[in-house]
Amino acid sequence: MPEKPKRNTLLYNIMFVAAGAGIILFLLAAPPETTVKLPHDDIHQKYHAMKKKQAEKFCEKCHNPQGEAPLPQGHPPKYRCLFCHKRS
Ligand code: HEC
Ligand code: HEC
Repeated sequence: MPEKPKRNTLLYNIMFVAAGAGIILFLLAAPPETTVKLPHDDIHQKYHAMKKKQAEKFCEKCHNPQGEAPLPQGHPPKYRCLFCHKRS
């Protein structure tokens, strides 16, 4: 009976393609990036030139709850600032 296994293979192939298409559609539908970029001002200019990991050591000197520029309420997890606040 060669019929049955063949049908199964076709079914799995269809499922595989459908899952792939679903993932691509999901990624394409992601909202455009709107997170504010790292500013180009006197405070932040120097961090554009540094390595990301190096620069991020300084962010929380000011961006902490007691600092001069606390993060807004409901700010997402803040690990690695520059992955979200891109440099331009
Ligand atoms: C010396 C203090 C200081 C340091 C260090 C600092 N910031 Fe800031 N940051 C500020 C202040 C004050 C503001 C608000 C005024 C402004 O926009 O410049 C601000 C604003 C921002 C904003 C919002 C800009 C906007 O358009 O609303 C982002 C994003 C930001 N900082 C990210 C960072 C990141 C990422 C780092 C580390 C690489 C960093 N900051 C380091 C003081 C600092
Ligand atoms: C997971 C992504 C993510 C990470 C990591 C992250 N942020 Fe944010 N941040 C956001 C989002 C989203 C907002 C909401 C406002 C917006 O769209 O920019 C925000 C808002 C801010 C604001 C206020 C901007 C404004 O104009 O109101 C500052 C300042 C800021 N973040 C600084 C930082 C700093 C400093 C770090 C690292 C310690 C950090 N962020 C890490 C996503 C992130």
